[in-house]
Amino acid sequence: MPTTHPRFGIWAQVNGTSGTLFHPEDPADATWERNRKLVLEAEALGFESTLVAQHLFNNRDDSLDQLETWAASAALAGLTSRIEIIAAIKPMLFHPVVLAKMASQIDEISHGRFAINLVNAWYKPEYERSGLTFAEHDARYDYGREWIHIVRALTEGERLTFEGKHFQIKDLQLRPTSRYKPRPTIYAGGESDAAQQLSADFADVWFINGQPPADVTRLIARVRALPRKGPPIRFGLAAFVVARASDEEAEAELAYLNSLKEKDAGVRQQMLANTDDKAEMFKTFARNPSFGTNGGTAAGLVGSYDRVAERIQAFADLGIELFMLQFQPFEREMRLFAEHVRPRVDRLARVAA
Ligand SMILES: Cc1cc2nc3c(=O)[nH]c(=O)nc-3n(C[C@H](O)[C@H](O)[C@H](O)COP(=O)(O)O)c2cc1C
Repeated sequence: MPTTHPRFGIWAQVNGTSGTLFHPEDPADATWERNRKLVLEAEALGFESTLVAQHLFNNRDDSLDQLETWAASAALAGLTSRIEIIAAIKPMLFHPVVLAKMASQIDEISHGRFAINLVNAWYKPEYERSGLTFAEHDARYDYGREWIHIVRALTEGERLTFEGKHFQIKDLQLRPTSRYKPRPTIYAGGESDAAQQLSADFADVWFINGQPPADVTRLIARVRALPRKGPPIRFGLAAFVVARASDEEAEAELAYLNSLKEKDAGVRQQMLANTDDKAEMFKTFARNPSFGTNGGTAAGLVGSYDRVAERIQAFADLGIELFMLQFQPFEREMRLFAEHVRPRVDRLARVAA
């Protein structure tokens, strides 16, 4: 596979932190104002993408703020000018026709920079407390399959008639669809076989949780081998970065973060107790203890600026085209990445090209 020149994104701070709730310089802050400034700064620093995750309430502590994904993404679309905006969506929370309409509109507001990230849920209280059925793991994916079929067809401008188990659509077309590209890009997250199959069938990009290169290699090979119509699937990776002038300084910073994380033990336990025990992603996390969400530091982006750049390039050689990054304190570390790691990756990518 040819080397890809990687793109970099940041996780919007929808629940106010990517790491510990107890960092003295980075208290949980999920306000719109913080996220507005964060994404505008990321764009100015050259980050190409932002992921706005979706949770109805804060799954660490429901007394803390939680940013609403679709309202915030629409506002970001109007405020920014270059950065890609990826809004996560859990199919059970929105009817696909309404969602397709919203996606096309946000794509227009953003002049073609909008994308969705299809995620099929793992946190039970979000559904149960809302009076929604938290269906069994593979049943959620079956529902998601009908759901994304409809969203994809409608955002492509198709006049749709669809008779499914969950949805019946009659002679429906929506206008306008994207004036800038065939439709909003479809990302998908989830590691189970059902998630891989769904991604091969419907997604443009499959998001992988942060984990070591050998595991990423295996996952990419599996998904590439699945039957698929259309262009080859592309890959993104979640990762938490700790980069410093030397490996020793980066390891010391990670040790400090891990020491703060001990105070999150109760919150973590509560979250795990409310997790779908069939969710494959938590099995991956159990194998690879890490700091940060969605695999975090398990991707190994901890070390000197040179080391982190080299590891990014190695992942890019495996086929990762988008790195969705987390930091803590987010803004300070994001700036360090832009100043020190990004130019090194650009140099390595030019040499490899
Ligand atoms: C990059 C990335 C982003 C994700 N974002 C969300 C999210 O916003 N909301 C959510 O509930 N789950 C999110 N997930 C979780 C997964 O989509 C999925 O629900 C979980 O992995 C369980 O499914 P699995 O058994 O297929 O792994 C995300 C996963 C990845 C890799």
